[in-house]
Amino acid sequence: MKKTSKDPELFAGLDIGTRKTAVLVAEKPAQDEELHVIGVGKARTRGIRKGIILEPEAVIESIRNALDDAESMIGLHIKSAYLSLGLNSLFCFRCNGSLDLGESQDTITLSDVRKTMEEALSKAPLREGDIIIHAYPLEYIINGEKTTAEPVGQKGARLDVSMTCLSVSEKEARLAVQCAEKAGLHVEGIVHKCIASAFGSLREEDMEKVALAVDSGGGTTSYAVIKRGMPLCAGIFPIGGDHITNDLNYVLKLPPSKSEMLKRLIPLNEPEDNWDDELEFDINGEPYLCTVGEILEVVRPRIAELWLDLLKTELEKSILGGFPSRIVLSGGVAKTQGMSDYLNEIIGFPVRPGNPVTADAMPPDRNGLEFTTAAGILRYIQMKEKFPYRYLDPQGKEGVPKPPDREFFQSPTAERIKKIRSGQGYTAPVKNLVDVIKKTLKELF
Ligand SMILES: Nc1ncnc2c1ncn2[C@@H]1O[C@H](COP(=O)(O)OP(=O)(O)OP(=O)(O)O)[C@@H](O)[C@H]1O
Ligand SMILES: [Mg+2]
Repeated sequence: MKKTSKDPELFAGLDIGTRKTAVLVAEKPAQDEELHVIGVGKARTRGIRKGIILEPEAVIESIRNALDDAESMIGLHIKSAYLSLGLNSLFCFRCNGSLDLGESQDTITLSDVRKTMEEALSKAPLREGDIIIHAYPLEYIINGEKTTAEPVGQKGARLDVSMTCLSVSEKEARLAVQCAEKAGLHVEGIVHKCIASAFGSLREEDMEKVALAVDSGGGTTSYAVIKRGMPLCAGIFPIGGDHITNDLNYVLKLPPSKSEMLKRLIPLNEPEDNWDDELEFDINGEPYLCTVGEILEVVRPRIAELWLDLLKTELEKSILGGFPSRIVLSGGVAKTQGMSDYLNEIIGFPVRPGNPVTADAMPPDRNGLEFTTAAGILRYIQMKEKFPYRYLDPQGKEGVPKPPDREFFQSPTAERIKKIRSGQGYTAPVKNLVDVIKKTLKELF
């Protein structure tokens, strides 16, 4: 399709979740401008378990389906996007760097800051096979004195920096990029799900303080603690809502569709007086009976395990020493009825639903808690463009880990998609005639 001068420059975020793949498309905004969302596509994800890509072919199809869905909504091709997923190999650590500026107490320049950061990154305690995907300067020290202010323009003989770094397995990151590229997208960069969800759910007033953003999806739960806009620590656990469904399948011998329905139906904060209430339904024509209490005795411990045994323990080990008072929860699991009350009861802090910060600009049926990550990708990229020296993504020269040529490139799905997209009259599936006409006109001119 020929690009016409009228085509807007697109700005897209692709969230490859364990359960669904979502793509949020906006018009590329000028600096400081609000995002103008023009479409949100979604598709069921196949081929990912607990955040790990197990069947690349199925993941490519899922991405393509989500792109087709968005393209049919906006009537334009999405050529490139920033990518987010819950890479499970995530490792969060600190690293420090310093630079001697000489006795003359010169004014610190941007180049000095860059060199100090490069020094810090060069000493990063990377695990074998990992790459750093995010790095954030938390604190600068000028002549031995701590400052959170920007160092450029200040005078000093020595500059130190302390950074939060997030690394992942390069192999896993490459595979995700390969899948997106084989689905016909140019990947502009990767944003880890923990960071994207935090930027997608935290409001300006949360960002200014210390806030914890948790995202519980189908196969993973990630978190990030943000202090004055900067990620302090982050992590991910391979547990999500699908584990709750599986627990119900296993303990109550229910088929997955019934477990999925029941966990959505029974509020976590149901008063104990009602726990003996009976639920009666059919399974393959056979009557089945269970109580509200039997369901909650399966669902509640899984959520308690996640928040108390895993998340709380991790936060206690961090410099935070425990939960901060501002907590926001996004992802499909956040839609569980009575979740905020139940979490308040077990952790002792209120937990607010983390709806996408751009929810008002998103279609009403695609602006819920499971779309927060997709919205966060674009907000994060906007912040990164505004403050390039605060949000660093040292993902290799061209922004993302480059995939090597492997047999993967010859995969039948990849070949098929390549053929279709390079073919002459390719148009994404369209929902109505107007879209077809719009597309045809674009192709003619
Ligand atoms: N109303 C609801 N009540 C309880 N659970 C729900 C509800 N709606 C969705 N879920 C659960 O949310 C999960 C899917 O959430 P989401 O779409 O955020 O996952 P994902 O982004 O694909 O996965 P991940 O982020 O873990 O890779 C599923 O386990 C689903 O059962
Ligand atoms: Mg998700």
